[in-house]
Amino acid sequence: MSTTIIDGKHIAEEVLADAAKDVARLKQERGVTPGLAAVLVGEDPASEVYVRNKTRSCEQAGLFAQTLRMPATTTQGKVLEMVQRLNRDPRFHGILVQLPLPRHISEAVVIAAIAPEKDVDGQTAVSLGRLAAGDPVFVPATPAGIVELLLRSGIDPEGKHVVICGRSTLVAKPLALLLVRKAKGANATVTICHTRTRNLASITRQADILVAAIGQPRAITADMVKDGAVVIDVGINRISDTTAKSGTRLVGDVDFNAVREKASAITPVPGGVGPMTVAMVVSNTVLAARRFAEGGTGQDRPRTTLDIVPPVA
Ligand code: GUN
Repeated sequence: MSTTIIDGKHIAEEVLADAAKDVARLKQERGVTPGLAAVLVGEDPASEVYVRNKTRSCEQAGLFAQTLRMPATTTQGKVLEMVQRLNRDPRFHGILVQLPLPRHISEAVVIAAIAPEKDVDGQTAVSLGRLAAGDPVFVPATPAGIVELLLRSGIDPEGKHVVICGRSTLVAKPLALLLVRKAKGANATVTICHTRTRNLASITRQADILVAAIGQPRAITADMVKDGAVVIDVGINRISDTTAKSGTRLVGDVDFNAVREKASAITPVPGGVGPMTVAMVVSNTVLAARRFAEGGTGQDRPRTTLDIVPPVA
């Protein structure tokens, strides 16, 4: 079977080019430069890379971006003070607290402190609740990036069975909410699998679109995939590799070389979902700045059922 390798890097460049045009317009028409504050607590090497990629891409698209670094020993109170300061700082339209946080800090408490109108990571109760209600304000970057990847690759989830392996609030749950919406580019049948799912392979083999967001290297093997399925790999795992110069390399949650033989389309790692996550953070920040410039916060619309995304015919 001829398999399409979905080029996330290229599609992310397209999203960033669109964002750059929007930034130029905002600057010219409103005198507003969109700004992103990334809070990085501790020295987790993977988080360092994510935050560097996000701030670099912001700068590439013409945004203002700053990383606020705090040592791993910082108290929860100090992190909350930082978030509250950023909530008030007019230079920043988006705030992103990179996860995971050190164990002594409650992620839930810190996320709850982010002003919903600056929640470009879509992790506050307001963002998640509005998404669940079918009226999203900010969609978390990775699920938004996956939907964008599918649609820009000509893959419409409508009527398809999407099986998501993973139940995180950052990726799996919001992706399920996005894909079941009664809306164009959604309308999928969604199954969520997790560590307690019985006979996982019998479910993953039913997937027209299989999303792996497990966090385990090469956990999805060829026998778990239906012929012709679309496979989206969210995993970023560093494994040791004596043939690599650095002694390590990145692999996804999918056994790429074996699964590509069965899939009709598959995302590689690196170069698949990762660049899309970065691009969608940029895109969400530009959206936040546009709402700010136009005087709306995204929270001030009527909150009735009439406000829910209208169904498509
Ligand atoms: N850690 C891994 N992915 C993400 C993400 O998309 N956002 C945040 N805040 N932390 C992460």
